This record gives sequence, structure tokens and C-alpha cells, in this order.
Amino acid sequence: MSNDQMRELWARGAEVWVEHKDIYDRELRGFADAVLAAIDPRPGLRILDIGCGTGTLLELAAESGASGVGFDISETMIRAAAERVPAASFVVADAQTTDLTDGGPYDAVVSRFGAMFFDEPAVAFANIRKALRPGAPMAFVCWRGLDENQMFTLGNSVLADRLDPRPPPPAPGAPGPTALADPERIRAILAEAGWTSVGIEKLDIVCDYGRDGGDGVEDRLVTVLGSMSGRFAREQLEGRLGPEGWAAVVDEVRVELRRHLVDGRVQFNGATWLVTAKA
Ligand SMILES: C[S@@+](CC[C@H](N)C(=O)[O-])C[C@H]1O[C@@H](n2cnc3c(N)ncnc32)[C@H](O)[C@@H]1O
Repeated sequence: MSNDQMRELWARGAEVWVEHKDIYDRELRGFADAVLAAIDPRPGLRILDIGCGTGTLLELAAESGASGVGFDISETMIRAAAERVPAASFVVADAQTTDLTDGGPYDAVVSRFGAMFFDEPAVAFANIRKALRPGAPMAFVCWRGLDENQMFTLGNSVLADRLDPRPPPPAPGAPGPTALADPERIRAILAEAGWTSVGIEKLDIVCDYGRDGGDGVEDRLVTVLGSMSGRFAREQLEGRLGPEGWAAVVDEVRVELRRHLVDGRVQFNGATWLVTAKA
């Protein structure tokens, strides 16, 4: 999939992220903390955030006195981020092809799940590196494989089962959430892009959807239906089954989620790589 097609996908996906940013931020908070800890944000540090979404990382970095610029391919995300973090700057840009050196060189680059969508990842990571001062750190988090991550299957599999043909799993390395699941591929991409001191560590954090004593089923449902595969299933099924038929399918997803509660809540391990490197 090209970056332009990815832009189209995120144009629609961003609406769900913006409307429900509290859900995504709660469920993914631990990953934000880990990424930021790896670059040690402090007063005066100027940071780039790649695929910044609604601005979570720069909001947290600002609490430590750091400042920065967030880049995202989605206008909807950038609008929400600018509203949320007035202390930072936000730019609608494809981080693979846009010259990011304006206002640089920067002291660090971060990304929480925003660096897996490039159609030419080595080109993208080389482009990002050029915006940093030599030796500056990068830290980003990306998903490991589908087999380790219920994030992409719990509830989503009910929808996939209803599609004919059932969508095949993405090809290894194809742009998308699990594009960087293979650590050897990450190493090869970063080496080609000129990064050094590459570190790739497993980072496992529980994604817990429960809040205020609730079971988290409705919050998880929002993210299932808002995911790329959830939106695709809806496009295919709602027209064919009608509103009542679609509502019945959504109820099946709820049943599936309730069947998998752990200690009364929707929760599962988020299996990721924490990747660090130097420009
Ligand atoms: C999974 S979201 C993560 C958002 C945010 N980092 C967070 O953790 O809340 C991925 C983000 O990457 C952005 N994105 C995808 N391809 C991109 C590209 N080529 N350049 C810049 N941003 C991109 C999407 O628009 C989306 O906001």
C-alpha cells in the first residue's frame, strides 16, 4: 500500500482516534511513558514526534519542560493535537517524503505506533535522521506479530469470520500496524537509513480497557470498530445485512469480548518492540 492510500485510510481512522482519544491514551499510556523515558525529556530538549496522532507524546514531554514538533499525515489528527498541546507545533506531513529539517536540527525523535506505515521505510528513516543533530537519540515503539497481539484479533476476528472471503493476514512487512514485527527487518532498515547503536527490546504492557469498575467491553468495541479491519468489515457488511443485521453482528462482538474477560475486564498483553538508535 502506498503512503497516499495510507493517508486515505487514516483520514477516516483519525476521526475515531480524535473522538475517543481518552480510550486510546488510557490503553496505550504505558507505551508513551516507555518511549519518553528512553530519550529523557528535559527543559530545552527539542523533540520530533513522527505520526504524532493527537499529540500525546508532546503533551507528556511538555510536562518535563521539553518542546517539539509533531508530524502526521492526517489533517484531522494534527488539528486535534494543536488544540490539545498549544505549547508544541504540529504539521500535516508525510514523514517519509517531507523535508523535516526546518527548525532543526532536533535533539531527539520519538514515535508511539506511528512509524509502521511507510511504503519505503528505509527512505523514511533516513529522512527523519537528517532532521536530527548527529548522535541524537531516537526511541519508538511498534507492535510485534499478530500471533502475539490480541490487540488485532480480540473482537476483530468475529468480524473477519463474517466476510467472504475472510481477509488474509497482511503480508510480512506490508505497511500497517505489524510492518515492523520482525526485529531483523528493523535492524536492516535502520542500518540502510544510516542509524547507529540500534537497540531492540521486548516491551510487554497490559492494555486494560476497564475503568471505574466497568468491564471495558464498550471501550474495546469502539477500538475494534474503529480499526482498519473493523471499518473495512462494516463497509462490507452493513450494506449487505442492513442496520439490524449489522447491529446483530456488533452484538456478537460484545459476546466474544465478554467471553474473554480477565478478572472481569477486557485486558490483554500488548507485545511490542522498544527500538532505540542514534542519528
Ligand atoms: C496508530 S496511530 C498512532 C498515533 C499516536 N502516535 C498515538 O500513539 O496516539 C498512527 C499515526 O501515524 C500516522 N501516519 C501514518 N503514515 C504516516 C506518514 N507517512 N507520515 C506521518 N504520519 C503518518 C497516522 O495518521 C496516525 O496518526
